[in-house]
Amino acid sequence: MGFRVGVVGVGPVGDRIVRVLRERNFPVDGNLTVMATHRRSEVLADQEFLVEECSADLFQGLDIVFFAGREGAKGASIEWGKVATDAGAWVVDNGGDFRMDPAYPLVVPEVNMDAVTGENKHICSPNCSSIQMVVAIAPIHRAARIKRIVVSTYQAVSGWGLKAMNDLERQLPAHVAKQQVPYHPDVFTRPIVLDCIPHIDHFTDDGYTKEELKMLNETRKILDEPEMAITATAVRVPVMIGHAEAINLELEAPLTRGEALDILRDPEQSPGVVVIDGPTKDPAAAEQRHAPEELQYPTQADILKSEYQDMVLVGRVREDHTVENGLNLWCVADNLRKGAATNVVQIAEELIARGMLG
Ligand SMILES: NC(=O)c1ccc[n+]([C@@H]2O[C@H](COP(=O)([O-])OP(=O)(O)OC[C@H]3O[C@@H](n4cnc5c(N)ncnc54)[C@H](OP(=O)(O)O)[C@@H]3O)[C@@H](O)[C@H]2O)c1
Repeated sequence: MGFRVGVVGVGPVGDRIVRVLRERNFPVDGNLTVMATHRRSEVLADQEFLVEECSADLFQGLDIVFFAGREGAKGASIEWGKVATDAGAWVVDNGGDFRMDPAYPLVVPEVNMDAVTGENKHICSPNCSSIQMVVAIAPIHRAARIKRIVVSTYQAVSGWGLKAMNDLERQLPAHVAKQQVPYHPDVFTRPIVLDCIPHIDHFTDDGYTKEELKMLNETRKILDEPEMAITATAVRVPVMIGHAEAINLELEAPLTRGEALDILRDPEQSPGVVVIDGPTKDPAAAEQRHAPEELQYPTQADILKSEYQDMVLVGRVREDHTVENGLNLWCVADNLRKGAATNVVQIAEELIARGMLG
C-alpha cells in the first residue's frame, strides 16, 4: 500500500527529503507533489520535478506532507501547515515555528516517538544540532541521568541554507587568489572562509543566540526534562555539510568510559549511534560495528560516507575528572539528513509501523 506524499520547499533540505524517500523505498503512491513559492521545473535528488506553487487544493488527498520551507509569518508552515492538516494530511515539519508549542509533538524517533498520539497531526522535527545531541545523549541519560549539559557546536554552512553554501563556494577561490572575498551580509556577518563565527540565528537580550536557546529548550522538551541544566555555544565553521558537537555531561550516577562505550555501542540501547572511538583495548568489541583501522574519532568528512550518512557518530568518550560523575563526548552528524530529512522520513516510517498513517 502506498501513500500520497507532498514536499513543501526545495532547498537543500527538500532535496534531501526527496532523496531519502527514494533511498529508503518509502511507499509513495503515484508522483510526489512538490511545492514551493512559485511554479517551475527543478532538479531534486538528480531527478527533474515540476514544482507547483503552494495552494490549498494541492493538499487535498495527500496522506502526509513534509515541510522544508522557510520559517516565520510568511514561511511555509505558518502559511500552509494548518491547511494541510485541515485537508486530512499528517504534517512533518522541519521548521521551528511550532516546535516549542506544547500542543505540537517535537520528535526524534530514536528517543521519543511516543510523543505522537494522533491528537495533533502536525509533528515538528527539531533543529539539526538538537537532533544529533539527543540521539547521542539519550542512552546515557537513561543509564545514569544527566544533571547538566555544556555543549559547543561546530556547524556547517548548509545549516543556513543554499545561499550560505554558494557563498562559501565562491569565497574559497577568492581567498586562495588573495582577492577580495565576496559575501552576502544577510547570510553571515563576515566571510566564513577559513574562519569560525560564534553567531547562529539572532542574538537575544542576554547575549545568547536563538540557536543556543533552541538546543536548551528543544532538548528539555524531547527528553521531557523541563528543569535540565543546559548551556550551549553555537559556532558556524567553514564546512559545507555536517555538524560536530563537543558535549560535557554531569551525571547523577557514575559512568566509566568503558560503561558509556558499552551503552553507546549497543544498537538496542543506542539506536542511530555509531561509535568511532579508539584505539580500543578490546578489539572484539570494536569489530562489532567497524573495521579496526577505522577506529579513531569521527569528523564531519565521515558523515558523507554512505554507511554513516544517516547515523550520529560518537567518539572521544572520556571521563571528566573535574566534576563528580563527569563525561565528555564528541558527536557528528549530517545536518541535512539526520539533522533534517532523514529524521522526518523516519518519523513517517514510524507512523506507518504504528498503523497511524493512512
Ligand atoms: N539546513 C539545515 O541543516 C536544516 C536542518 C534542520 C531544519 N532545517 C529547517 O528546514 C527548513 C528548510 O531548510 P533549507 O535549508 O532547505 O531552506 P532554504 O534553502 O531556504 O529553502 C526553503 C524553501 O522553502 C520554500 N518556501 C519558503 N517559504 C515558503 C512558503 N511560504 N510557501 C511555500 N514554500 C516556501 C522556498 O521556496 P522557493 O524556492 O520558491 O523560494 C524554498 O524552496 C527551514 O525551516 C530550516 O530551518 C534546516
